[in-house]
Amino acid sequence: MSVDLSTPLDWKTASGDAETMLEQLQANILRPHVREHLAILFLNFADATEGKAYLRALAPKVKSARTHLDEIEAFHADGTPGTTWFGVGLTAAGYAALGITTGVPGDASFALGMKAHDTRTKLHDPPVSVWEPQYQSTIHAVILVGDATDAAMTAGRNDVLDLITESISVVAEETGHGQHNANTDGIEHFGYVDGRSQPLFLTQDIDGEIATSPGPVVWNPAFPLDRVIVPDPASPNPTVDFGSYFVYRKLEQNVRRFKQAEQDIADQLGLIGEDRERAGAMLIGRFEDGTPLTVQRTDAAALPVTNSFNYNDDLQGLKCPFHGHIRKSNPRGSGGFEAEPQERLHIMARRGQTYGDRVDDPNADLPPSSRPAGGVGLLFMAYNVDIAEQFEFVQKTWVDNPNFPRVSGSTPPPGLDQVIGQGPRDKISQPQFWNASSAVEVDPVPQAVTLKGGEYFFTPSLDFLNSVV
Ligand code: HEM
Repeated sequence: MSVDLSTPLDWKTASGDAETMLEQLQANILRPHVREHLAILFLNFADATEGKAYLRALAPKVKSARTHLDEIEAFHADGTPGTTWFGVGLTAAGYAALGITTGVPGDASFALGMKAHDTRTKLHDPPVSVWEPQYQSTIHAVILVGDATDAAMTAGRNDVLDLITESISVVAEETGHGQHNANTDGIEHFGYVDGRSQPLFLTQDIDGEIATSPGPVVWNPAFPLDRVIVPDPASPNPTVDFGSYFVYRKLEQNVRRFKQAEQDIADQLGLIGEDRERAGAMLIGRFEDGTPLTVQRTDAAALPVTNSFNYNDDLQGLKCPFHGHIRKSNPRGSGGFEAEPQERLHIMARRGQTYGDRVDDPNADLPPSSRPAGGVGLLFMAYNVDIAEQFEFVQKTWVDNPNFPRVSGSTPPPGLDQVIGQGPRDKISQPQFWNASSAVEVDPVPQAVTLKGGEYFFTPSLDFLNSVV
């Protein structure tokens, strides 16, 4: 009985090949792992034999999806804390450096890599020469170490470093740590709840999401396994050994610039009092606390904020503008070019974490001038089965495309995603009032998110890591 990839998985009753798959798959793919404190080490292998020995030495630390899920159960049952998460990914150059030529994961974007001219042209990414210097060198592997406390993460990071031998160099390192709002929800540096909307692959997660969403299911959170895992072709047994393509991008956020733009929009539209919050919500598509703008005109929705919504009652973008980040990156059936089932093929599992320290409270009512202009941002991470159809499609065909979504009579066109869009920006249209009868033109937001480096990886199965020679 092979693994049924056409549907979500009930992990508790998984048996046979599906159970083996869970035992051989890395954690954090099917369900996010705690990574409140996160170290990300980027490695280069100068010697194939030592590189492979390193991966084998690391393998016993790498937690399976099954162990992770059991740990979550134990934690909920009696508070038993989970163990540190170690994640491993290899680039196409990494497979080559290890001398692995057969069974290399075949995704075309993965083979090219993020630095390639064709990739950067497609994504409007800046030239590699202006990336942070450490990301300009060749990366062969990524090791992620995540845990709930800094002490546990640091201990894990040191273990990873201790195993390193002479021919292996650490070319780059990042430290991520979570930020939270007053409701303890995770937020990104512009101050908005992040990570709320996710494709869910486990029936237990899907049931939980539906149970906490009032009303009918308007947006189906259930996604089949074939949108997040693929057979690991270099493993001993690809029928049960699976992995996923891992997209990593270091995205610096100029918080001062973005917060100034929110104020400028509020001024241009003449928004007053609490309604000024809507200026930022129109850029993200949700208020800071996560309340979807298309659902209601103010923040403070019932918690947890809903993810069961679509844009059917807002086809003219007069509640949530078309350029809002979450509307551009998941049109929920309203994109106008593809039917909803096709649109859903572009959705990916996001697993980002914020980086950088700041002294100001992201949610406090402070002037933009007191916000950081650099040094903070998002370590964007996402698992894909087809990078061109998921991450790259969202960035290129939706986010960076001023004519997406397709709307009749929209002047000016929807414009770029005002948060992460790359490319020239023109005036955008926004309703002066929530659900107004028409929209007015305002100045675009100057780009406040900048790519500092990144790469495409494949996260192989545990079976591969244990047996690579
Ligand atoms: C610094 C950069 C970024 C910031 C500040 C940011 C911020 C946010 C926020 C606040 C949300 C709403 C919370 C949620 O629904 O989970 C969100 C959702 C989302 N973001 Fe981003 N994001 C960034 C980068 C990206 C990138 C690079 C992509 C992909 C190309 C992306 C794709 C998405 C998607 C698909 C959603 C969920 C939309 C939905 O299902 O409704 N984001 N992001």
